[in-house]
Amino acid sequence: MARDRRRLAQALGLSEREARLEAQVLLSRALQSPRAFVLAHEGDALPPEREARYRALMQRRLQGEPMAYILGEREFYGLVFKTTPAALIPRPETELLVELALARIPADSPRTILDLGTGSGAVAVAIARHRPLARITAVDRCPQALALARENAIRLGAANVELLESDWYGALGVRKFDIIVANPPYVAEADRHLEQGDLRFEPRRALAAGKDGLDAIRAVVDGAPAHLSPGGRLLFEHGHDQADACRDLLRRAGFVEIASHPDLAGIPRVTGGRAG
Ligand SMILES: C[S@@+](CC[C@H](N)C(=O)[O-])C[C@H]1O[C@@H](n2cnc3c(N)ncnc32)[C@H](O)[C@@H]1O
Repeated sequence: MARDRRRLAQALGLSEREARLEAQVLLSRALQSPRAFVLAHEGDALPPEREARYRALMQRRLQGEPMAYILGEREFYGLVFKTTPAALIPRPETELLVELALARIPADSPRTILDLGTGSGAVAVAIARHRPLARITAVDRCPQALALARENAIRLGAANVELLESDWYGALGVRKFDIIVANPPYVAEADRHLEQGDLRFEPRRALAAGKDGLDAIRAVVDGAPAHLSPGGRLLFEHGHDQADACRDLLRRAGFVEIASHPDLAGIPRVTGGRAG
């Protein structure tokens, strides 16, 4: 284990603490036992078949594969989502989008919500579970992502989520919603981060959006007025340096009450407004 921890830290640039935690989690998965068991038996010899299972998991991680794809799950907004390479791994920063949406959806009223680019279904399912009276329509262009979202909605008991294959608003006809939420792709195509860390293993279509990273956000903002009920709201996540550009896009599309909302580090990561 100590050698694995060192190799992990070196290969992936992890701190000693992160590397220890990841090695323990992988061992716990290989042994199909809780991490407390792993901690209590550190240093014990493993039966050969379990040792082989652990080695295979460790090898995948050493090659950089994200923990969420190796384990096949990730927690988001207190719910455990199935994760596969078909969709982006749900991120803690996206919890801000869910929180802001929930603050605008009364618990006692049957509001209609649209989640654009639902991926694993994380945002749609989290909202659905906290607002059982709301009706959530979640769309994605990728059928494999939609299949995963469907599985997550079923596993997590979110019966109020409808899933639809659609190129943004393309398959929605004239339908209107009270709130539109989106975590669209927003990384510039040439951004070197796409070649680093977990991002190398995630679908490019879930991450990159044109030269300046704003192509998808432009499509989401421009199409929103036609799909919002009077006074309806749009809220979407964006990159750490895109808030000014996003507010500008909203202004030009006729939105009012435009605001950017900071994450825990004080960086504006979600912007939105009310249909004017
Ligand atoms: C950043 S991921 C967000 C996934 C999920 N909502 C989350 O927050 O974890 C963006 C998603 O948008 C989808 N997408 C990209 N282009 C699209 C388009 N033109 N129409 C619909 N969905 C699209 C991708 O397939 C991907 O699932």
